[in-house]
Amino acid sequence: MTGRIPDSFLDELVARSDIVEIISARVPLKKAGREYKACCPFHNEKSPSFSVSGDKQFYHCFGCGAHGTVIGFLMQYEKMEFLDAVADLAQRAGLELPREAQAPRDPGSADLHDLMLRAARFFEQNLADNARAQAYVQRRGIDPKISAQFSLGYAPDAWETLLKRFGGQEEDQRRLLQVGLILERSGERSSGYYDRFRDRLMFPIRDSRGRVIGFGGRVIDQGEPKYMNSPETALFHKGRELYGLYEARQARGDFKRLLIVEGYMDVVRLHQAGITYAVATLGTATTQEHLNKIFRITSEVVFCFDGDRAGRQAAWRALENALPLARDGRELKFMFLPEGHDPDSLVALEGAETFENRMKESLPLSEYLVQQLIADVDLDHIDGRAKLKALAGPLFARMPEGIYREMLADRLALRVGMPANKLKEFFDAGEPKRGATSAPEPRGRQRGRMSAGRGNLLTQAITLVLHHPKAAAAVPYPEALARVDKPGVTVLKELLAQAAAAANPSTAVLLERWRDLPEYGRLAEIAMGEPLVADPEAATKELRMAIEKLLDEYGPGRRTDELLRKAEETGLNYDEKAELSLLLKSKGRPQARP
Ligand code: UTP
Ligand code: MN
Repeated sequence: MTGRIPDSFLDELVARSDIVEIISARVPLKKAGREYKACCPFHNEKSPSFSVSGDKQFYHCFGCGAHGTVIGFLMQYEKMEFLDAVADLAQRAGLELPREAQAPRDPGSADLHDLMLRAARFFEQNLADNARAQAYVQRRGIDPKISAQFSLGYAPDAWETLLKRFGGQEEDQRRLLQVGLILERSGERSSGYYDRFRDRLMFPIRDSRGRVIGFGGRVIDQGEPKYMNSPETALFHKGRELYGLYEARQARGDFKRLLIVEGYMDVVRLHQAGITYAVATLGTATTQEHLNKIFRITSEVVFCFDGDRAGRQAAWRALENALPLARDGRELKFMFLPEGHDPDSLVALEGAETFENRMKESLPLSEYLVQQLIADVDLDHIDGRAKLKALAGPLFARMPEGIYREMLADRLALRVGMPANKLKEFFDAGEPKRGATSAPEPRGRQRGRMSAGRGNLLTQAITLVLHHPKAAAAVPYPEALARVDKPGVTVLKELLAQAAAAANPSTAVLLERWRDLPEYGRLAEIAMGEPLVADPEAATKELRMAIEKLLDEYGPGRRTDELLRKAEETGLNYDEKAELSLLLKSKGRPQARP
């Protein structure tokens, strides 16, 4: 989310960065007319369809559809998160990151990160020094290279090694406690602290910037609990982090997807086998926060589960959490392993290639959902249908409205042999929250629907602004436009205001603020399309005309005419009279006619 970063800062950042420079440092660009071309770094191709525009500060691939601003490029190419990309560009541009964007926000957490790093190194050293732990690592088939890459370590078999090493002062002990590395003794006679992790193989958990924020510790061989994890701390939030994500980014194979598995060991062993896009949740179900993070990096996610009962249960929970984020353009898949196997054992048994082939066979969310829904329902019975309704209703209610949901309903309809429209009624009736009407409800952050029509006036105006932001900045903003309260026009108004306010407006400067809004896709599409006119001067003229026509169509003047006509024909009620008098008084006619 652009969240805490002020828009004005983003504007300046995008304006000060040069997308051509940033991209050409990573992808060899060739000049072609006003733009630059290359073979697309995001899909395999022989002839270049990747194009970068210095004017628009925007890139676009005609082959795979990848597109975005300089921030988007870093996110997509370097697998950076939004804030990291912003921080990176800010540093290059010599801009100081706004306080709000500086993480860690708590000044003390830099110390805590440092402490975690030192602890990780300490464990790593202990692994090097401990033959039994090393033998275990070897027995699990982990190569030294991978062990080093994941900084695996060993927590010694004693109560106070870490405490003694890092907890000299009371202050130090307090910090060890804060990051969850030690525990407080609770006996009546004893006091003080002891190490949380003892005699365990240690897996440091890193955040997206590579900082160690927690640990998972496995018993050597047998014992309970098998894994022990860092508790929730100021640095570590299980529901947010994915083990292996940092390493996956570092590996930088151009991963088209992320594979979500269940265990630390699975991640390590999959990476070793070359499947470097494997990550694991930390003993929890996949949360929406996880998925939001993932969908910033890739549009395809494969959930991998063991084939046993627990695995199937976990899969269903993942599905429930994923539904609200399911939409067109995102792929969510479910992969089930043969019983008795996890990714670690399977990849050891049959190799990476076979494993990846299995992955190709994984079930799309839609199919998995339908399959599960009808699995134990007898549709010939009225009871069966009632049951299906009870099962499907709440699930459909979780999904955002849109093509994807429609598609899913159609698919289910097909499988249960019911006409799609009938089935939809059937589900709508079963949705407790939405009530009986099927009218789409307005979404929270939606600023107003844009019509998809090509030639329409509004689209024309928006096209002109996006392709000629500097010209748009110079077009006077008619006061009457502010009063047009028509969905879609709101988008135009905001773009005009943005162009006028920005010191150095470009297509990318305008688009960057829309990144997280529903209109982004449509706006990006317009920005990548044909400009209506090539010349900025012509654009100014066209834009003025388009705005004027819009005012004619939606402006306050139109309402005035309507009320006047009604007054003549049928008379006005009290409210309408008041409205008309107000409109007439407040110079209801557009002012900006040249
Ligand atoms: P598994 O029991 O499947 O372990 O737990 P694993 O990853 O296959 O490990 P090995 O192969 O036996 O060494 C999967 C994940 O569930 C969490 C851990 O994150 C683990 O990696 N877990 C499991 C715990 O948090 N605590 C436990 O006691 C067990
Ligand atoms: Mn295992």
